[in-house]
Amino acid sequence: MNPTGNRFDANLLAANLLAEMTLEEKIGQLTMVAAGDVVTGPIRAGEVADAIRAGRVGNLLNLWGAEQVRAMQAIAVEESRLKIPLLIGFDVLHGHRTIFPIPLAEAALFDPHLWERSARASAIEAASDGISLAFAPMLDIARDPRWGRIAEGPGEDPWVAATFATAKVRGLQGASLAAVDAVAATAKHFCGYGAGLAGLDYASADISERLLHEVYLPPFKAAVAAGCAAIMPSFNDVNGVPMTAHIPLLRDWLRREQGFEGVIVSDYFAIAELMRHGVAADLVEAAAAALAAGVDIDMMSDAYRLGLPAALERGVASMSQIDAAVRRVLALKARLGLFDDPLRRGCTASSGPLDAKARRDLARDVARRAIVVLTNKRVSPNRKILPLAAGLRRIALIGPLADNSADMLGPWAAVGTPGQAVTVRQGLEAALPNAEIVCACGVGIEDEDISGIAGALELCRGADVVLLCLGESATMSGEAACRANPVLPGRQWALAQAVLDLGKPVVALIFSGRPLMIPALVEKADAVVAAWFLGIEAGNAVADVLSGHFNPTGRLPITWPREIGQVPIFFAARPSGRPAYPGNRYTSIYLDLPVEPQFPFGHGLSYNDATLTNLRASAKEFKLGDELVVLVDVANLGPVAGEETVFLFARDVVASIARPHLELKGFGKIALQAGESATLSLPLRADQLCFPGPDLRPRFEPGDFELSVGASADPLRLLTITVRALPG
Ligand code: NOJ
Repeated sequence: MNPTGNRFDANLLAANLLAEMTLEEKIGQLTMVAAGDVVTGPIRAGEVADAIRAGRVGNLLNLWGAEQVRAMQAIAVEESRLKIPLLIGFDVLHGHRTIFPIPLAEAALFDPHLWERSARASAIEAASDGISLAFAPMLDIARDPRWGRIAEGPGEDPWVAATFATAKVRGLQGASLAAVDAVAATAKHFCGYGAGLAGLDYASADISERLLHEVYLPPFKAAVAAGCAAIMPSFNDVNGVPMTAHIPLLRDWLRREQGFEGVIVSDYFAIAELMRHGVAADLVEAAAAALAAGVDIDMMSDAYRLGLPAALERGVASMSQIDAAVRRVLALKARLGLFDDPLRRGCTASSGPLDAKARRDLARDVARRAIVVLTNKRVSPNRKILPLAAGLRRIALIGPLADNSADMLGPWAAVGTPGQAVTVRQGLEAALPNAEIVCACGVGIEDEDISGIAGALELCRGADVVLLCLGESATMSGEAACRANPVLPGRQWALAQAVLDLGKPVVALIFSGRPLMIPALVEKADAVVAAWFLGIEAGNAVADVLSGHFNPTGRLPITWPREIGQVPIFFAARPSGRPAYPGNRYTSIYLDLPVEPQFPFGHGLSYNDATLTNLRASAKEFKLGDELVVLVDVANLGPVAGEETVFLFARDVVASIARPHLELKGFGKIALQAGESATLSLPLRADQLCFPGPDLRPRFEPGDFELSVGASADPLRLLTITVRALPG
């Protein structure tokens, strides 16, 4: 045994095997194909088995289930010449069997501990299904809700994404990759995928070097620092160079500067797509370009198998490049303990400290914490509409998401079974057994048929309150699910309008993978709640919040625009020389829209009121190397116990490069009983105030920094103090 607990030394093992391998076997280790139920390429299960036997395929994706994986592993380790086990990859993005909220929703927790715990639970399930490589976490910064994949990542902010990256990598990989319940994490999509032009998927991104270093690279840096085993380049090009062949970012930044020694796995068919990008004339050039950039595994395009032998002959690829890639793949297999016992993942029914019930409880807790109450109006002098009044006689649950299980899981729901998700109706019936709950769709999610509206209105007339369950279907976000106009789809607004016109109290629950543009609904409804796609426990989580059984704590991890014309809109914009000044046309304003978003980053209401006072720092002056503690008093004004999330922002007042108005430098949470006050401490290292200087190297500039804290990025609600950075 070596110190990592593996029986083999990974490097030694790789070197020994490499010496014995034919070119075909080497390329086999660099090839990943789909098998099992989700066969999206031309290869069928029988052909896959033959290819594994012959050493032409060393890695699979989209295969799960103990028996299925064991069958394939057995072919690899018993019937192939070199007996090398397979890597089994799968998208374990927000749960495996127990589906948690989509990542954008989970980001709303602002709770690294829970982010890690949900990933751990997912890893336990995935590993027990034979999976060794998770294509997660997705770390794409996204500032454009038109992009469907905004649902898969942690939102707009690099600090949040970096913190999320660390937590997810830890959770997926556990204490040791070799553990039977650990899976290797794949940070994706490296990088700038979320910046595609016009919010389109797979589209070109034009990102300045500065923005790359300030915004798009930090989450990946954090993932690498956390020991992430794999990285997946994004489909798109950044500044004209497709990421699958991006030498400056993959080889120079990731491998050389960050010291990443893990595996780079291409995205699905992405190497062959280099031809469509127009940077490779044929599969041979495509394969050579990806290999040169350091891409180790070719997912699904067969470019390495078909292209690398010819690339060697043409002299555009070298055996040492191939060997280096094979070595990295073998080393990962060794670190995963696959050589010790290739069949043990998948052998244990459901190993680990969390049993299925505990995972489900965790999913409920994560889901209710992901819910963001956006508005909550007063319906009488002493009561807001939420939580729902006790003793409600009749509740009308209206809309296409009201009793809908299939869509609750959201996109990329791994092997989650849609029918198992608790619907809002089921959740409410369980939480409010004394209320009569009447339910109607009114309209479908996307169709034009409005014939059900009249019947729905009839149900509303006899109800004390109407809960409108509106939004998207699960397939309207995620990959290949961009929307030029992310409003309520189909005729849902017609339904909502008709219900609102009844004059009843109305709570609108919005299920979606992105912020939806709903200004009129926000204005008219008594409450609006972002319910995202909450996963398997969706209905119970919604019921927990609506009934007041749980005091909501979710906060927006993304600025919620009023209209799509405001996009991209995010809190960390740089200042203008002519800041917005309503009424003065020659300032940075729209003629036809306010510049403020519908809801700022960090926004979210609870059922208690909290105030922040007495902001101070442990020192007024500091130097590089120091650590400050920023302190603020938080008071829960009642009427119930609650949990407050506090954000810490910094602004470098005068610097050699214009700095954003606000940069997030930390966040903290504090739980307080009604009437209780306490001090929250937020640590701030001086080096967090560095920024990429003119040469893009981290730079610390003496001078004044404004430190602001608040419950959101709303500039009108921040407390601010000034501290001074000293030279040296
Ligand atoms: C394509 C997606 O872009 C990527 O995120 C995913 O991991 C692969 N397909 C494999 O399913």
